[in-house]
Amino acid sequence: MIANDKSKYDWAAYYDKTEGRPPRETTLFALDKFESKPFYGFGDKNLLAVDLGCGAGRDTIECLRRGWGVIAIDSEKKAIDKLSIRKDIPSNAQLTLQVGKIEDSIWPTCDFINSSFALPLVESEKFNSVWKNIRKSLKEGGRIACQLFGERDSWFGKSGMTFHNRHTVDLLLEGWVIEMLREEVEQSITVRGELKLWHIFHIVAKKVS
Ligand SMILES: C[S@@+](CC[C@H](N)C(=O)[O-])C[C@H]1O[C@@H](n2cnc3c(N)ncnc32)[C@H](O)[C@@H]1O
Repeated sequence: MIANDKSKYDWAAYYDKTEGRPPRETTLFALDKFESKPFYGFGDKNLLAVDLGCGAGRDTIECLRRGWGVIAIDSEKKAIDKLSIRKDIPSNAQLTLQVGKIEDSIWPTCDFINSSFALPLVESEKFNSVWKNIRKSLKEGGRIACQLFGERDSWFGKSGMTFHNRHTVDLLLEGWVIEMLREEVEQSITVRGELKLWHIFHIVAKKVS
């Protein structure tokens, strides 16, 4: 996914390879939860999702397809350009595109924050303030779906990234209803064809207060 220096990573190739892929499991799980009981505004025209580090938009498109408004944010202009010309954007889509780092971005109060494989790319010094923004901007009953990387991951220690362990994940989610917390440790091939050990926390959680 990322090279030694993430700023030099060829994201364009990553977007080409991933734009046609299905939405992430965490995104689907969270969207399904909104649509199941207890009823949370399903059918409401004004549900808003924010997709942080949206990439080529595999999750953004799914939210739009289900009638959500989406603010899609990515630090790479190439991602936003790619997403903006996707042919599967529904004709009535409420889509706002923003180029910017998650750390520096501002978004309004929303119902759903989705961030697939992007929060580990936030600098560790800035992660806590990003998380604070996420907590503050989510409405009560709203959800986050995201991945965080663990300390056994091959990339552990890379500069400009943030890693967690089970204890720090629990602290982040304190007071929330955890609907999915799946810890994965698996060796597999990255989008750019490298073998690596992944240590991933797949998370869906609901803010209750
Ligand atoms: C691994 S990709 C995941 C893309 C998409 N969410 C997906 O699941 O296919 C990470 C994305 O986050 C973006 N990104 C990395 N660091 C970022 C940051 N600090 N702020 C915003 N976007 C960032 C990258 O440009 C890239 O598009």
